[in-house]
Amino acid sequence: NFYHQAKYTISVHNLSQLPSDTGREVAFAGRSNAGKSSAINAITQQKSLARTSKTPGRTQQIIFFELDEKRRLIDLPGYGYAKVSITIKQHWQNTLERYLQTRDSLRGLILLMDIRHPLTDFDKNMLLWCQHSAMPVHILLTKADKLSFGASKSALLQVKAQLTQFKTESSEISIQLFSSLKLTGLEEARSVLDGWLGV
Ligand code: GTP
Ligand code: MG
Repeated sequence: NFYHQAKYTISVHNLSQLPSDTGREVAFAGRSNAGKSSAINAITQQKSLARTSKTPGRTQQIIFFELDEKRRLIDLPGYGYAKVSITIKQHWQNTLERYLQTRDSLRGLILLMDIRHPLTDFDKNMLLWCQHSAMPVHILLTKADKLSFGASKSALLQVKAQLTQFKTESSEISIQLFSSLKLTGLEEARSVLDGWLGV
């Protein structure tokens, strides 16, 4: 499998450290503790490629994983993490915004939402930004294993219904159930990545 060959490349704290903006990349965004790093590990089938934690705020840099010379997956710090100073928050917000706005090789965002707490204000802002900047976005409603099959299906339908407000003719937005624990939705997620990365 193409995704199994992912390798850690670099952790970026300042934008001056970004690897060259060529080829294609896909970034994993979402609230702190939503399960971004776990999803990267599930997709690449590497238990400890991206560092995960029970406590929010684990990922504090923009972390690059190389799939091949031309393709990368990016683990972003979560938004909404309260326990850091205002200065650090500001730095992160600016860094993230500038990365998202200026990165030519960024082909799409995987936006993770805990299925039990979907569409927070942060998520809505991110979806609005994707809409305005015509950035393709694919939502993983993750930790689906925490709900029964029926409950997760109905959560999916409810969120889907709300997505119409973030849709325009030119915007690409899709959604699925996901579980890093049970590996639910793995193939569906990989096929979206395949499309964006040109695999
Ligand atoms: P930050 O780096 O802090 O922004 O968090 P993150 O979004 O990278 O979350 P991370 O992958 O570190 O996971 C947070 C916690 O949720 C960990 O305890 C994971 O084990 C757990 N978790 C992640 N995905 C799943 C899932 O699909 N199912 C269940 N049950 N737990 C999950
Ligand atoms: Mg993380």
